[in-house]
Amino acid sequence: MKAIEIRNKYLKFFESHGHKIIPSAPVIPENDPSVLFTTAGMHPLVPYLLGEKHPEGTRLTDFQKCVRTVDIDEVGDNRHLTYFEMLGNWSLGDYFKEESIQMSFDFLTKELEIPVEKLSVTCFAGDEDAPKDEVSYECWKKAGIPEERIYFFGKDDNWWIAGEEGPCGPDTEMFYDTGKEPCSENCNPSCSCGKYVEIWNNVFMEYFKDKNGYSKLKQKNVDTGLGLERMTMLLQGKKTPYEIEIFAPVMEELEKMQKVDDIQSRRIIAEHIRSSMMIINDGGVPSNVDRGYILRRLLRRAIRHMNKLGIDLNEISHIIDVSVNALKEMYPELLENKENIKKVIIEEKDKFVRTLQNGEKEFEKAVKKAKQSGKNVIDGNIVFNLYETYGFPAEMTEELAKEQGIEVDNKEFDKLFKEHQEKSRLGSDQKFKGGLAATGDMEVKYHTATHLLNAALKMVLGEHVHQKGSNITSERMRFDFSHPAKMTEEEKQKVEDMVNNWIEQDMEVTFKEMPKEDAIKSGAECMFIEKYPDIVTVYSIGEVSKELCGGPHVTNTGKLGRFKIKKEEASSAGVRRIKAILE
Ligand code: ALA
Repeated sequence: MKAIEIRNKYLKFFESHGHKIIPSAPVIPENDPSVLFTTAGMHPLVPYLLGEKHPEGTRLTDFQKCVRTVDIDEVGDNRHLTYFEMLGNWSLGDYFKEESIQMSFDFLTKELEIPVEKLSVTCFAGDEDAPKDEVSYECWKKAGIPEERIYFFGKDDNWWIAGEEGPCGPDTEMFYDTGKEPCSENCNPSCSCGKYVEIWNNVFMEYFKDKNGYSKLKQKNVDTGLGLERMTMLLQGKKTPYEIEIFAPVMEELEKMQKVDDIQSRRIIAEHIRSSMMIINDGGVPSNVDRGYILRRLLRRAIRHMNKLGIDLNEISHIIDVSVNALKEMYPELLENKENIKKVIIEEKDKFVRTLQNGEKEFEKAVKKAKQSGKNVIDGNIVFNLYETYGFPAEMTEELAKEQGIEVDNKEFDKLFKEHQEKSRLGSDQKFKGGLAATGDMEVKYHTATHLLNAALKMVLGEHVHQKGSNITSERMRFDFSHPAKMTEEEKQKVEDMVNNWIEQDMEVTFKEMPKEDAIKSGAECMFIEKYPDIVTVYSIGEVSKELCGGPHVTNTGKLGRFKIKKEEASSAGVRRIKAILE
């Protein structure tokens, strides 16, 4: 079965069990600058797990585009991916353990036809925060998993939370037995020897964790996640995801193009190009900070490995073609945006080539210094500086040094590199934590308020007004829009009154999915049309606002309170900025 067939089967199965299929949110979370990337299917649904009503009801299913870059340096082995697709189904205070487990069991054994003998499951063993999950144990037994393949483990294995704070709970995980010999007498699903591969995680989210500890959520939710690439690989009897149709054509092409044989480099190129394309497709641009930096690292790493394989860097355009071709059925938007994606990647490639040239001068200096000192060793901190400042790969420094009969201090470099890695790991954890904490009620309210403000500005100032950006915290909103002149006091007052009037009318906020073209024809507002997939979500507020948007929003405008413009100022040429609050 191909990945897309598994995806379709999954969505259809859960649809037939009363779930509404919702679209994937972008890999770059909307209106949430504090989070780097969407890392799990539940991420865009946090407000609903906390109790906000989802307009599509209490049973949802989707495929979510995810990026996790904590393990970026592990890519190239046989399992780590920076981009992956997560299939998920949710109960928002609807069904709980029994139904969730029965559906998972049926999907695995009946739809995917995995023999029961191949399945083992794990449940939460209980501790001072939550009791042993006997219910899941009983449900698995009832479904058809024999007792000896139901295991209990503690928080490390069977508790799920995104980051440090947020909705969480015990989980039950499903494992596929690859048929490998057990590594020891005690070999079990928590063991990393490779016999058992985790395929699905059902989290029973009924707790909330914050600095003070655990409390119960308003409702009992189910949040599940199934890694599509991994499942496809197992069902196809493959040992790595690089052998499935998502990557195989790219791997084969790279093999034809390479002058030096290295499977790890081929994997890194194939994987990072796919991730980069997905990030760029959702609006990412390479830069030196945050998301942009991650994208830059992915691209530079791919390019560096092309160099390593002796592939002409101009061939990157061809690699993109092959990769898009392999992915176009799953992500038709890649085909639509291919030229833009190529442009971004080729520009970054050109920049990197120049960077490497500059680095080379620094390298020559380092060689001279090493020779003069008589030690014939390049200091680790110079190697690190070449890496950090010039994007100069350490392996390349070493190779080039060797050609000059000089060594590099790898030990010192490794130490500095590890410290650097640790820092960025902490950085991305904190980002995630901040992001989740930041998806609270207030942010959702401000998000709806931006739609009202956008509509009011259009009515007061004219149709030339379009959103150019927005930034939301729990304390305020910032909204950038196209308008050539400073707003008068009168105009500001009018806009404020209009928004408050709409809030008082307690208008309903609704949404509808439709083809992108229809959405544009219907006159819906949107910021970057090329950023959106073929099927888009259009949020409407009464008759006054219609915008392409991923949500979330409040259900009624009455919840917003009083809207107040605090400041109106220039942002850049032809763009004004409003700072406003809800009181
Ligand atoms: N949110 C859970 C996970 O990512 C399902 O594993």
